[in-house]
Amino acid sequence: MKNLLVVHGANLNLLGEREPELYGTSSLDELNAAIKKFANGLGLEVKTFQSNHEGAMIDFIHENRRWAEGIVINAGAFTHYSYALRDAILSVNLPAVDVHLSDIYQREEFRRHSVIKDVCIKQIVGLGSQGYLRAVEFLVGNDLINSLKKFISRRPNRDQILNKAVEMLKTAYPKYTWVGIYLLESDELVLHNYLGKPSPHTRIPVGKGICGAAVHERAAIIVPDVKADPRYLACSLDTRSEIVVPIMSGQRVYGEIDIDSDLADIFHEGDQQILEKCAELLLEVLSF
Ligand code: DQA
Repeated sequence: MKNLLVVHGANLNLLGEREPELYGTSSLDELNAAIKKFANGLGLEVKTFQSNHEGAMIDFIHENRRWAEGIVINAGAFTHYSYALRDAILSVNLPAVDVHLSDIYQREEFRRHSVIKDVCIKQIVGLGSQGYLRAVEFLVGNDLINSLKKFISRRPNRDQILNKAVEMLKTAYPKYTWVGIYLLESDELVLHNYLGKPSPHTRIPVGKGICGAAVHERAAIIVPDVKADPRYLACSLDTRSEIVVPIMSGQRVYGEIDIDSDLADIFHEGDQQILEKCAELLLEVLSF
């Protein structure tokens, strides 16, 4: 994915001065600059747009439908009742993320309903400007999953698929310093392939370290600060946070995706969702 639209709706031109206790103190220009900087860092081009007019937002989406590959949209109050905007998102058939600065579920009743939510691939609320950055990351991940699906449909062998998955993850997200796949062999996790610095932990018993714990618990684990987690098996002194996602079907574990970052507290629910989708695709090739 290269090209992204960021669309802001009614009253968001007054960000910074409008109810700052709800929407923060940054202006729309500052917000757009932060989104662009972040998206550029992921290799994306961004076009931003704001309007207080429903039709102008729709026109902008239509006009850019062939250029764009994804949309981040905070439609403001239009979110709660604009079927026309909902239809516009459906009409252009682009993946979109519905973002709100405030937590619309903790406010007035009328804000709890988004008519565009279910035509979007994700909704992110209550994270302030961070929500837009998470939306950008999620769109990148969604694109990665589609590309991996396409790759798998060409019927490469198992190792080519595992290598491709690691390569795609490592290239898509600069914050992923080390990406590896372990496969479960009886009661040991064996490192199959990775990108990043060589790891001393090529065989990990189930139950040991964060990798072993994720298999034992049959659940993804996010560790915001590895130094504060006694389970952490140090690979690199630079590692600050880690996410581990098992590749499993029911209670049976086939392996796991393990990712380290040199940045602290960098993994969130969006990473987990994308990695779980990735694990689901890998499951198809590991489980026969
Ligand atoms: C908003 C929430 C909407 O209910 C409101 O009308 C806005 C901003 C948000 O970002 O929290 O204009 O979309």
